Amino acid sequence: MDIRIFETSEELDLYAAEIFRKLINEKPNAVLGLATGSTPVGIYAKMVEDYKNNKVSFSGVTTYNLDEYVGLTPDNDQSYAYYMNQNLFSHVDIPAIQTNLPDGMAEDPQEECRRYEAMINEHPADIQLLGLGHNGHIAFNEPDEHLSAGTHVVKLKEETLEANARFFASIDEVPKEAYTMGIGSILKANTILLVVRGSDKANIVKEALTGPITTKVPASLLQTHPRVTVLLDREAGRMLG
Ligand code: F6R
Repeated sequence: MDIRIFETSEELDLYAAEIFRKLINEKPNAVLGLATGSTPVGIYAKMVEDYKNNKVSFSGVTTYNLDEYVGLTPDNDQSYAYYMNQNLFSHVDIPAIQTNLPDGMAEDPQEECRRYEAMINEHPADIQLLGLGHNGHIAFNEPDEHLSAGTHVVKLKEETLEANARFFASIDEVPKEAYTMGIGSILKANTILLVVRGSDKANIVKEALTGPITTKVPASLLQTHPRVTVLLDREAGRMLG
């Protein structure tokens, strides 16, 4: 594992964007596995900057996102499709047809899982970007006795529904399920780029990277992957070494 700790979030963003830029310039038809959440926002902003400064083109790139809510349309501002358009896709030259997320509106969720997993199998990511949840989750793979290998539907926990309720008109509108890549889908990527920021995640960073491999800390499974790069800000890395 290649672990790098940065003094500032901006330095981390620049470094991460450079990884993507170099990969795409070397391999214009690269496959990128992407994430949502607060962690990648600054990285996507730097990637957009690189595109605007003619340092990179996304015209040949294909992307696969980790997850999406069941039942949300791409124009719902809480959907991950909306997030990706806002933060990256609409600002660069990637054709919409080359961007992939599980289809929140699919009629048959099980069939949608099979379709998505088959695409990942056919086009494994050159690099998979990941954030880390406070409890060690990656994508929507929450700590449990068992984890699923492939793309599957998860029921969101009551606390997640309550936390998300503030973004919706009423709690009934909050999605109760989500599609997520499984741990196996994630580990198929050629390289993994795990990014974590903030002192509130320092403990889980240490557990995930240096603790035992356990389904109780889904991110600990990343220790089994041969090419993982971890980018941390000073606060997230403060419990290491
Ligand atoms: C996002 C995702 C989640 C987040 C994680 C961290 O697509 O799959 O696992 O990466 O919850 O979220 P933030 O970055 O908001 O702290």
